[in-house]
Amino acid sequence: MNVVVVRTVEEARKHLALRRPEEKRIGFVPTMGALHAGHASLIENARSGSDFVAVSIFVNPLQFGPGEDYLRYPRPLEKDLDVCERMGADLVFAPAVGEMYPVEQRTFVEVTRLGDHLCGPFRPGHFRGVTTVVAKLFGIVQPNRAWFGEKDYQQLCIIRKMVQDLNLPVEIVPVPIYREKDGLALSSRNAYLDSEDRSVAPVLFRALTTARGMIETGERKAAVVKEWAKRVLTQQERVRPEYFEIVDPIELQPVDEIAGEVRIAGAIWVGKTRLIDNLAASPR
Ligand SMILES: Nc1ncnc2c1ncn2[C@@H]1O[C@H](COP(=O)(O)OP(=O)(O)OP(=O)(O)O)[C@@H](O)[C@H]1O
Ligand SMILES: [Mg+2]
Repeated sequence: MNVVVVRTVEEARKHLALRRPEEKRIGFVPTMGALHAGHASLIENARSGSDFVAVSIFVNPLQFGPGEDYLRYPRPLEKDLDVCERMGADLVFAPAVGEMYPVEQRTFVEVTRLGDHLCGPFRPGHFRGVTTVVAKLFGIVQPNRAWFGEKDYQQLCIIRKMVQDLNLPVEIVPVPIYREKDGLALSSRNAYLDSEDRSVAPVLFRALTTARGMIETGERKAAVVKEWAKRVLTQQERVRPEYFEIVDPIELQPVDEIAGEVRIAGAIWVGKTRLIDNLAASPR
């Protein structure tokens, strides 16, 4: 293996400090592991956009709500290290929980407003957990650039705002959603889907493309578009829609009249698995 694996903050810092003088651009891809082709695409982008690529693998308890899947979240570390190696990562930081939170964490980063809709209301405290751990990871790795997937569009917007508001010296680079052939966005949680779940899961992408099609062909009323999309989603009896929303792409506030570019985003439950996805759409 060429990739260096470190488990502690001190080792990560030591290793990065050695490389920083010569490797000018430090690239960073934060993940929760159970790596798939979407993560591989992030690492590949980081590889071509930096001299040194660090990947973190950390299932962050702070971003899971009570009753969520923190304990059963997949942790296939050996397989993940193979993916990192294959995609050309230089360093993997895979800390234990006690390494990231050795004492009671009493400092939190919270971005207001951007979490008011979409996933925010359904996962109280989630984005605060994400921004807090990403701020900590940025403090440890001190990357010049960090890559985030558009699959988690709200997360991407919130991280960008955090970086702007806190003057963090990191450039946030978005990566398009990597999908299966049938449109399903890759996600570590897809591993929870049994074969029947898997066969209905692409319905979310179909609802999003239906909505985008309506917007592109002149429908301006968000309510009309959402009504149709929900009809698509409820055709599947295993599927329980959580939200389906049309928001402005910057502030993530729901729009009534579609006048410019929007983000269409949805979350559904397929059996016991929660899936999210989104698309950009603009009226012609
Ligand atoms: N299909 C995908 N395409 C592009 N980026 C992705 C995709 N899936 C995840 N990512 C990105 O990978 C990074 C790490 O995400 P994470 O480790 O939470 O994986 P995940 O697939 O989102 O898992 P989960 O669904 O369990 O949250 C994030 O920036 C996320 O947006
Ligand atoms: Mg995720």
